[in-house]
Amino acid sequence: MIDRPGNPVLRSRGILGALLLLTCLTGLALFSQGCHAQAAPPFNHPYLTWQGDPCTTMTVTFQTATVPKAVEVRYDSASHAGKPDDYPGKAAGASHQVDGLVDKRSINSAELSGLKPATRYYFVFQAENGEFSKEYLFETIANDERMIRFVDGGDVGEFPSVPGLFRSAAAQNPAFVEIGGDIAYEGGNLDEFATVDAWLNLWTEGMVAPDGRLIPLVAVIGNHEVNHESGAKERRAPFYYGYYPQGGKSYFARDFGPNLRFIALDSDHTVGHAEQVGWLKEQLQAPGGKHRIASYHVPLFPSHREFTGGDSEAGRRLWMPLFDQFHLSLGLEHHDHTFKRTKALRAGEPDPAGTVYLGDGCMGQDPRDVDAARPYLEKASSTRHFWVVDVDAEKVSCRAIGDDGKVFDACDVK
Ligand SMILES: [Fe+2]
Repeated sequence: MIDRPGNPVLRSRGILGALLLLTCLTGLALFSQGCHAQAAPPFNHPYLTWQGDPCTTMTVTFQTATVPKAVEVRYDSASHAGKPDDYPGKAAGASHQVDGLVDKRSINSAELSGLKPATRYYFVFQAENGEFSKEYLFETIANDERMIRFVDGGDVGEFPSVPGLFRSAAAQNPAFVEIGGDIAYEGGNLDEFATVDAWLNLWTEGMVAPDGRLIPLVAVIGNHEVNHESGAKERRAPFYYGYYPQGGKSYFARDFGPNLRFIALDSDHTVGHAEQVGWLKEQLQAPGGKHRIASYHVPLFPSHREFTGGDSEAGRRLWMPLFDQFHLSLGLEHHDHTFKRTKALRAGEPDPAGTVYLGDGCMGQDPRDVDAARPYLEKASSTRHFWVVDVDAEKVSCRAIGDDGKVFDACDVK
């Protein structure tokens, strides 16, 4: 039989086929929505952050459905194959709940302190049923001249590209991964907890170094961490403050050994630019931290959005003079969903002794168009990527890696 559109049998078969296809697609859509809404919470999957010195502390967090009787992490610099009684170190922690979160889950954290730098630690933690977890491991940061590597990315979410990008980032064996805002895209909305669950599942599954080490998270705040409520910052960004213990602030500085002072800033999501100026100056002028690198969400030198955007302008007016005065090595910028590298800039003008700004947050999100004609840009494109940053006493080496796992840009700065 010849397949002719005029044939009534074939036409009815075509209509039936189309109906069948429509039913399947609707079913798939409902199924995927259902999966999204019911993303399994990351209960009993530990993740790591810092509240203090990354050379001597580590904070272990795990979530549970109910409040455990006790929060305890047991640890040692030797493996004990998960036998809880064999770990001499014990760190007691605390549980809290996020106000208004409907499932009333428990967020359990313990800070391990007094650790040796550049040391691998093995740990287990007590789950809500009183039993101990399997053994996990982390490594403290070296407090000496050896090179430190970290990854920067932003605007992540739970998009299909994220698992591959996370795998690729973890394969670089970074000491930590810093997300420069717009982490899960729940918008600070308590009803969207499943979105954060899905993101945390991707994180805990993906951010494991080749040797099994858990990679710590440094979380910088972005506009999609924040809702439209008023009141305390913890209410406006409930997951950012509630899930990732970092000392209770959205701006903080950490020295990763003598060569890297990492400064996280809040580009007016829960704290305004002006409020951080005095503190930022102290961090930039204090001794130590040979290379100072700052990360914040809204770019001072955007590659997609308007140059005159309010938070970009505020960053240039209030923070940039300090970046210039105390020589910030790198400004890590996000929010625009593009790849960009600026020229070295002082006061916004090309100057070899100035600061290079890298961005612009595209570690999962769909890339946007760039305005490559802007005079401050050295290079820009619509490319998903993350940055790998190697810091030693001499220089800061940066490589951009795309979602094909390949390096497509590199630069050295001082
Ligand atoms: Fe953003």
